[in-house]
Amino acid sequence: MRKPIIAGNWKMNNTIETTKSLISEIIPLVKDAKCEVVVCVPFTDLEAARKAIRGSNIKLGAQNVHWAPKGAFTGEISAEMLKELKVEYVIIGHSERRQYFGETDETVNKRTKAAIAMDLKPIVCVGETLNQRESGLTSEVVKTQIVGALKDIEKESLKKIVVAYEPVWAIGTGKTATASDANDTIAVIRKAIQGIYGSVSANAMRIQYGGSMNPQNATELMGMPEIDGGLIGGASLKAQDFAKVINY
Ligand code: 13P
Repeated sequence: MRKPIIAGNWKMNNTIETTKSLISEIIPLVKDAKCEVVVCVPFTDLEAARKAIRGSNIKLGAQNVHWAPKGAFTGEISAEMLKELKVEYVIIGHSERRQYFGETDETVNKRTKAAIAMDLKPIVCVGETLNQRESGLTSEVVKTQIVGALKDIEKESLKKIVVAYEPVWAIGTGKTATASDANDTIAVIRKAIQGIYGSVSANAMRIQYGGSMNPQNATELMGMPEIDGGLIGGASLKAQDFAKVINY
């Protein structure tokens, strides 16, 4: 059985002060959650979030990590730096990183390997654009992305990885993939993983859905057999909404 994992991706939102208040609001609302609960916060909020979640069932995540252990990479953050802040999860290859910051399957792969080496748990994002979907390329695109992301990663390390399927056209748009479309594409991703690592590893892999997941559609999406959780943007910034998704 795969334990569902619901993670909030705060993106570039919240200061230290609002981090403290939002987390203290979330804690009592999710204390009986049956799924794993994660908040992926901006780097500058990690320390405040780390303190705020102490003693709760909420786990800490970051939104990116560089592949080098250290060096001349202005503006980047290493896996060791995250580890020091007790970060457990790290989002890698989010479509916004791919779209605006030149992230490629190759850099996603390098970041994923660096995270694993430091015992962080990568949340590796894949997903097609609207153009690709309309051209019938969805399966092709997600397969290429997942194979690229996992290149040369050992089977043993796979246990640490969570995959997030986020159709780009559904992110922040209020448009959601239908539950059955999301389920089908996640099945394609799982099949691709099976092709590399075999069915035991593929069946153990947790694959989230992301893209306008909210209190209204969470129950249906989470009810699908292939969907093992959610990566939540907008709805994770409101304690009540995030909690409703978690307690789907
Ligand atoms: P929204 O939930 O705001 O669509 O964002 C999804 C997302 O990008 C999570 O990583």
